[in-house]
Amino acid sequence: MKKLIFLLCMLGSMQAMAQQPFVANYDENKVGNFTLPNPLKKTDGSLIQSVKDWEIQRTYWLGLYEQYMFGKMPKKKIAQSYQLISKTNIMAGKATQYIWKLTFAGKYDVTVLGVLPNVKTKVPVFIGLNFCGNQTTSSDPNIPLFDKFTVCNNKPDYVNNKGQESSRGSWSSRWQFEKLIAAGYGSITIACGDFEEDKADGYLTGVRSVLAKELGLQADEWSANGAWAWGLNRTVDFLEKIPQIDAKRIILHGHSRLGKAALWAGVNDKRYAAVISNESGEGGAAISRRNYGENLWRITNSFPHWFYKDYKNYAYKENDLPFDSHILMSLIAPRPIYIASAVGDQWSDPKGEFMGGQQAEAVYQLYGKTGLGKNDFPALNTPVGQQIRYHIREGNHDINAYDWDQYIDFANKLIK
Ligand code: GCU
Repeated sequence: MKKLIFLLCMLGSMQAMAQQPFVANYDENKVGNFTLPNPLKKTDGSLIQSVKDWEIQRTYWLGLYEQYMFGKMPKKKIAQSYQLISKTNIMAGKATQYIWKLTFAGKYDVTVLGVLPNVKTKVPVFIGLNFCGNQTTSSDPNIPLFDKFTVCNNKPDYVNNKGQESSRGSWSSRWQFEKLIAAGYGSITIACGDFEEDKADGYLTGVRSVLAKELGLQADEWSANGAWAWGLNRTVDFLEKIPQIDAKRIILHGHSRLGKAALWAGVNDKRYAAVISNESGEGGAAISRRNYGENLWRITNSFPHWFYKDYKNYAYKENDLPFDSHILMSLIAPRPIYIASAVGDQWSDPKGEFMGGQQAEAVYQLYGKTGLGKNDFPALNTPVGQQIRYHIREGNHDINAYDWDQYIDFANKLIK
């Protein structure tokens, strides 16, 4: 009886907590105590000692991520065709801009933007989704204006779900095409909303519904993050067919919500040579068990479509989850991973993102690699680590020229 009363009280206080306006904690003394699951611990309690055993364990973790957090990743192959829409010489002959249309199962199209350096050898490329349409990445007038729902739709640059001329290049600082071309890299991007519009009912018109039959999955068996990650991975299928691209040197990146999608894409597809999580925060690189900044309750209430439907049940019960972000990042091993934070973006919990990388170290070591190594949380604008790299820069939630300088340097050292 006592137990029952206790349980009812607990339930009551949890409900009350859920109804109160959310106040994020930014006090290190209140992050709470927790024990992180050991990525190398098998279900029988023994510890993994070899890469061979880790590869088996990896599949087990991947299954748990599908089951608890992101939903299933479609395994079925789908017919895919592509068409070149336009090809433009840009940057005074230093690069070519391509617009391709990718078609899935003959009925679902997405538009891919590619900017490739004009060189004779195959080039490494960065690939990442964008928030508000390909036209925001550059002011070039040949890029079609995106005409589906995006998170920018409350801005004057968007009218009735269509990006206006004024939206061209509005986020070019996040893409830094000139910098990339000068360093010998190409860049590939697609609007995330081309795979699924970023809203609660976005699945109705996205790949989760339109391609449900072909993919053999119902919309509620996966998530928006799943759809975005799937889209990235199918774009890699296409990039493998482009002769100018070195498909062994594709570097995946994502900012914020699209950083979460990038991590999920990167663990599901080993073809990425490296993965970059830029301020991916809660549901991305940050340890969820830390009560700091955004938390699992807040994210699953604000963005229910991002995760598998049962994930919200772990709100204020993060300790019951079988994993945390360090295990997601362990699944990238031994490939290089870069985790980046900004001091003005405490919502994403920089320390939690660093800790996620730190706790993935053991798996990198199994492959004979040093991740963050023995580094403590670094000073501002001071990247640390080797196969797992980390920086916290000055400034706010964004991906900017400083970040790109570090990513190019990282790729030069570890990929080129
Ligand atoms: C919100 C959300 C974050 C997300 C961010 C973004 O702030 O709470 O989880 O990363 O949007 O995508 O910019």
